[in-house]
Amino acid sequence: MRLAVVGVGYVGLVSGACLASKGHQVVCVDVDPRKVAMVNERRPPIYEVGLQELLDQAVPKNLTASTDLTAAIHASEISLIAVGTPFDGDEIDLKYIREVARQIGTALRDHPGYHTVVVKSTVVPGTTEDVVLPILEAASGKTAGRDFGVGMNPEFLREGEAISDFMQPDRVVIGGIDERSIAAQRQLYTVFPDLDVLETTPRAAEMVKYTANSLLATLISFSNEMGNLAQAVGVDERIAMKGVHLDKRFSPILDDGRRVKPGMLSYLAAGCGFGGSCFPKDVQALIAHGQKAGQSMQLLRSVIDVNKAQPARMLAMLRAGLGEDLAGRRIAVLGVAFKPGTDDIRESPSLPVIDGLLAAGAQVTTFDTIAQRETEHLYGDRVRHAATLAAAVDRADGILIMTAWPEFRDVAPMVASLASPPLVVDGRRLIEKTSVPRYAGIGLPLTAPAAGPPTPTKAEAAE
Ligand SMILES: NC(=O)c1ccc[n+]([C@@H]2O[C@H](COP(=O)([O-])OP(=O)(O)OC[C@H]3O[C@@H](n4cnc5c(N)ncnc54)[C@H](O)[C@@H]3O)[C@@H](O)[C@H]2O)c1
Repeated sequence: MRLAVVGVGYVGLVSGACLASKGHQVVCVDVDPRKVAMVNERRPPIYEVGLQELLDQAVPKNLTASTDLTAAIHASEISLIAVGTPFDGDEIDLKYIREVARQIGTALRDHPGYHTVVVKSTVVPGTTEDVVLPILEAASGKTAGRDFGVGMNPEFLREGEAISDFMQPDRVVIGGIDERSIAAQRQLYTVFPDLDVLETTPRAAEMVKYTANSLLATLISFSNEMGNLAQAVGVDERIAMKGVHLDKRFSPILDDGRRVKPGMLSYLAAGCGFGGSCFPKDVQALIAHGQKAGQSMQLLRSVIDVNKAQPARMLAMLRAGLGEDLAGRRIAVLGVAFKPGTDDIRESPSLPVIDGLLAAGAQVTTFDTIAQRETEHLYGDRVRHAATLAAAVDRADGILIMTAWPEFRDVAPMVASLASPPLVVDGRRLIEKTSVPRYAGIGLPLTAPAAGPPTPTKAEAAE
């Protein structure tokens, strides 16, 4: 099919590149000429494993990028809107969606054929039919359902595994205002054989995405609350959760006795909080939307409250080991990306931790090779950006493991051999608690602080 994807971000570019690699003819459109130029030069503007190879394979034969939305719409049968839908503090901010709908509508005025407009961005239930469709009709002077199609196709890819998620989808949800709008989307996905396709209304498709994200966020906050309790009552949360994971309803036992280990179990483990561009903003947008619909949204409000408090736990554990006053203490923050495999630092729990350390006067060193550019952009010279793990750890008083990048495991042998080993506070339970002399882990009871090096005076620390 001839396809236009609007928004060259994590969702738009990955969707466009994957669908192009499957033989569709794709134009990716963005208002940012830098991203457009990079795609055309086969340089990924975001970090995602496998994206480089896809661009090498598809550009320019099946995939091109452009800032000309009108031309892209005129040249295509179907378009996917994949622009951002942030939370503005009160509710979902649909300004990018509205703007793109207006532009596509204007382009539809003199579109030579039938075109289906599909919302792929995460939008609250009702947006496609109550916001996007009327804008498209007003701007085009045409009638939805008769002159053009309208659909909603939420995206479930996870950053860090985006290409494999898109190429081996577990499900595709297709919402359409009529059979023709659904058929156009079905055709787009026929390149993936044996797919579980759920065909429904746009409103229900929108609801599926929020239901899925809210459940996953709830599991994480539940695990964090249990982890905090376990720590307080002297139990290792990992042991408590292991006992839960072994429930055959969570990890079914096959006939040969082996266990199925569903990916869902990774959400049932305490950590330093969820972040990223989806869970925090989607849950908050749904709370606001639900309250407008007369629902108290009590559970999801707690999910957000628990999550917001979690980064402070890392600082509390650091203080429990190093003392209240962090002024002048050298603290290494390992990982700024909200999860491994991505350069995305949006809403990462590392950010409130770094802010808290800076406010306390600590000397902060960050290490995250993949997210370094974004970190430098955000913090400039307020923090030191280490080029290697060894440089980050060097002379540190405390080390915070914030992101589960596998290479951070190397911190254990590095630290274990030091004469004055720093305190390692592990927000992801990435390393063995016995692998370093001074360890504190999320969900693990705090032991009496091991005798560490003497606390330097502020004057010494400032040297
Ligand atoms: N990132 C994820 O893992 C993920 C997963 C599933 C769903 N989603 C949803 O997908 C949507 C996009 O998320 P993202 O992370 O890819 O966003 P992003 O911020 O990475 O990308 C959005 C892009 O849209 C572009 N844009 C904005 N206005 C435009 C316009 N008028 N015309 C053309 N381009 C325009 C921006 O320049 C930017 O490049 C959001 O609704 C998000 O909730 C994201």
